[in-house]
Amino acid sequence: MGKTKTLGEFIMDRQAAFPFVSGQLTRLLTDISVASKIVSHQVNRAGLAGILGEAGSTNVQNEAQQKLDVLADDTFMRILSAGKSVAGIGSEEQDEVFICEEEGRRGKYIVLIDPLDGSSNIDVNVSIGTIFSIYKRITPIGEPIGEVDFLQKGTEQVAAGYVLYGSSSMLVYTTGTGVNGFTLDPAVGEFFLSHPMMIFPDVGKTYSLNGALLDICTEPTRQFLRRCQADDSLDYRARYIGSLVADFHRNLIHGGIYIYPSLEHKPNGKLRLLYECSPLSFIAEQAGGVALHDNGRIMDVQPTELHQRIPYYVGSKNLVDVMQECLSS
Ligand code: AHG
Ligand code: MN
Ligand code: MN
Repeated sequence: MGKTKTLGEFIMDRQAAFPFVSGQLTRLLTDISVASKIVSHQVNRAGLAGILGEAGSTNVQNEAQQKLDVLADDTFMRILSAGKSVAGIGSEEQDEVFICEEEGRRGKYIVLIDPLDGSSNIDVNVSIGTIFSIYKRITPIGEPIGEVDFLQKGTEQVAAGYVLYGSSSMLVYTTGTGVNGFTLDPAVGEFFLSHPMMIFPDVGKTYSLNGALLDICTEPTRQFLRRCQADDSLDYRARYIGSLVADFHRNLIHGGIYIYPSLEHKPNGKLRLLYECSPLSFIAEQAGGVALHDNGRIMDVQPTELHQRIPYYVGSKNLVDVMQECLSS
């Protein structure tokens, strides 16, 4: 058996294919992998290190922060802001963006991050994750970055990925030429290429949504479920972990659709466009899947606010096509 490629080697190989690049994206992806290893380690020993439970604070969306939400946010912020590639960071856990532009810095990239996804699963030892999204700054270097740099459409992403802290930790990412997955070997502290060129199965049988929302979600989602339940050509199954990263990852491997619908009292649903939906949509499309909101493709949405929410339907083509028929009927 040949030697398995590390994430570091993989990133360097990709850079070597573009001889004139400055290497800033390579450094940024490396920093993300380092921060992920630290968070993975913290997650693995959370029950021993006294970092389970609530932090006693709330974030900008008025959600109670868990200690690990705060720790993961601090870890990514500290490592990414210290690297020279980043001009600014927007985090789900912070009201305002963080600008890293003191004297002499020439960072090209903007990072948007959900540092700890699936917070409600932390205390019960169920899979959680991190989601990241990378854009090029629009404002020229030397001028102060602003809203326009952070509020970019998903189609403008340079890279996006997620880390899954599951039965093993995995980092899955794309730079627009397919999706590759790496598994952390904790004994040596390296991510190794384990899932090259990941593809969403065209035909999925699994739907993932919070069934408790059924009475308060809008009609298309109810119609979608009725159609699945009435169709015995596929043996459909429901699976909902409640951590978007983990549900998305399972569906990417086995096929399926993840739904966080529009609700009667919350027409924009729950998930955040910039930290959750845009990055996972880039990955989904790169893996041959489809990602929609109520009226079109997620990747085409022009964000208007940093923390904006949007209904989300993502996964294998057969199931998202059915969802689209329900949305447009
Ligand atoms: P976060 O922990 O980053 O706030 O995200 C939680 C999200 C997502 O991971 C999950 O799929 C969804 O919220 C679960 O929401 P419900 O409990 O409403 O189903
Ligand atoms: Mn999340
Ligand atoms: Mn989160």
